[in-house]
Amino acid sequence: MNRSDRSRTARVHGAAAAPARLLLLALAVWSAGCSGIQSAVNPYGPQAERIAWLWWLFFSVCTAVLLAVTAAVLLAAFRPGRRHVESVPPEGEPRKQRIVIAATILTVLILVMFFAADLRVGTRMTAAPAAEARPVAVEVVGHQWWWEIQYLDSSPDRSFRTANELRIPVGRPVVIQTTSRDVIHSFWVPNLHGKIDLIPGRVNTIWLQADRPGVFRGQCAEFCGLQHAKMAFTVVAVPDAEFERWLQAARRPAPPPRTPEARRGEQVFLQAQCSMCHTIRGTGAWGRVAPDLTRLAERRTIAAGTLPNTRGHLAGWILDPQQVKPGNFMPPTSLDPDSLHALLAYLETLQ
Ligand code: CUA
Repeated sequence: MNRSDRSRTARVHGAAAAPARLLLLALAVWSAGCSGIQSAVNPYGPQAERIAWLWWLFFSVCTAVLLAVTAAVLLAAFRPGRRHVESVPPEGEPRKQRIVIAATILTVLILVMFFAADLRVGTRMTAAPAAEARPVAVEVVGHQWWWEIQYLDSSPDRSFRTANELRIPVGRPVVIQTTSRDVIHSFWVPNLHGKIDLIPGRVNTIWLQADRPGVFRGQCAEFCGLQHAKMAFTVVAVPDAEFERWLQAARRPAPPPRTPEARRGEQVFLQAQCSMCHTIRGTGAWGRVAPDLTRLAERRTIAAGTLPNTRGHLAGWILDPQQVKPGNFMPPTSLDPDSLHALLAYLETLQ
């Protein structure tokens, strides 16, 4: 084989390898989409499993229909000796009619089957969970652009507020009442359930459940203004005993600061504008228009999933929140370096 033959062979192989590479890439993207902490096809509980089942049913049937139709079109297009409609003999008409009738009946049957499956899944998903399963009651209120979370209890002194991170027990249903204080938002944790709209003046309720421990990403799924994309939250599913321990601790007010620096930080917090908007239970800060910070230090992120909860990010957020999330309602804070460090030291004690 001379050089030009070899290069031609290489080109042919290269051309053949391109679709294979494309297929591999598509498969990689496909399989990546099926895992992860924000994926409807990686269900962690019964509600998400029902949705995933419905999705796979629709996907497989529609794929089969697409393949059948494509095959029929190709067969009709490349069938020898049938280039013109006029060339079809009249005796072929009844056969064509039978095919059309059969295809119509099959289409109707598939649509009815989809409808029945959808109805069955929908009925099961909206049925209230059993009381023996000891459901946890939570209220989620949407704000531009963060999530207010309240753990409800029949005794009001045992209910409390937090924000942007929802902790749930594994194996128990969590009944979530949702509403909004401003515009329409949508609460969505794909690994655990579908979307539910948060509508001002209305309460929409869903329940979800995690059957395995995990950390999931939730996202606002309804365009709600400039920072809609930065309106995320975290759901942490932990074993029931751990959840109960956490619940006991989370009901308590924030611990008093122990070090002199943290004590000074608490004073900074109360004297600067922070306490006008935020609550830290156990202090004089009772603002309700911004996230409750009583357990800020245990959260994985700040600014509703925008940044990891580290000292550096928190400092940047406090000094210039408009740089991080333009249009949000937190004003910039001018603090001297000592006050800022004291404030950060205090905020790190909040858990
Ligand atoms: Cu809230 Cu989009």
